[in-house]
Amino acid sequence: MNRRASVLREMGLAPLWRLRDAPEAGGDSPPAEEHAAAAGVSDAADVVAAAPGRERLAVPAAAARPPVMPTASPVVAPAPVRVATDGMDWDELEAAIGACRACALHERRTMAVPGVGDRAADWLFVGEGPGAEEDLRGEPFVGQAGKLLDAMLAAIGLARGRNVYIANAVKCRPPGNRTPEAVEMTTCQPYLERQIELIQPRIIVALGRPAAQTLLGGEVKINAARGRLFDRAGIPVVVTYHPAYLLRSPQDKAKAWEDLCFARAALAPR
Ligand code: URA
Repeated sequence: MNRRASVLREMGLAPLWRLRDAPEAGGDSPPAEEHAAAAGVSDAADVVAAAPGRERLAVPAAAARPPVMPTASPVVAPAPVRVATDGMDWDELEAAIGACRACALHERRTMAVPGVGDRAADWLFVGEGPGAEEDLRGEPFVGQAGKLLDAMLAAIGLARGRNVYIANAVKCRPPGNRTPEAVEMTTCQPYLERQIELIQPRIIVALGRPAAQTLLGGEVKINAARGRLFDRAGIPVVVTYHPAYLLRSPQDKAKAWEDLCFARAALAPR
């Protein structure tokens, strides 16, 4: 097995390909690498068109929907504190993140997790927020999800810290690894925005829904956003699954790999 094949196997792609519910004529499904070639990754539109297994959105049965209950008084969300990062260099930015007390997440963090990697990277990956291990070590994606992210990077010839920067939508761990609240993401957003200004990546990959919503604004559904190229102030943005989701749903790893191939084909010119 060549190195590429073993990397894809590491991501769990090879068995997945055989398990797809739409078998090729004759029942023999090609390995994932052959799919890459068939997808024609040099052309983003081809990749989208060739992307297999785009799932239908599940529409919940009306009967299963909980009734909408009237509330006695509207819940007033706290207004986000305006964090100023204008003109900051990397040292100032990281110091500001480390000392930030602009939202409640600072109260229970061990340390803030600004981001890691090549500060002149072509690729910026944005996750949701630090987990327990990241909170202790101050580096994003160092736990189980991080190991999978590293394998995903390797599958498209990338490596942490080499032409890659990794950051999160929020820089402090949400307690119990809950999803960050809207006010927390809004408050933290200027830090990510300044990181993007400093890095000037050629592509941004949003890992999961909170990251996609922070980068693109508004509601984002991952399955609807996959395979589409978004523009964020001139920088292309691609949306894919969060590695933690892929750990729970390994059958979707091949789709994540397709998304990364799509991103590679969509790299903006320097
Ligand atoms: N999940 C994330 O979104 N970010 C991390 O840094 C770790 C886990």
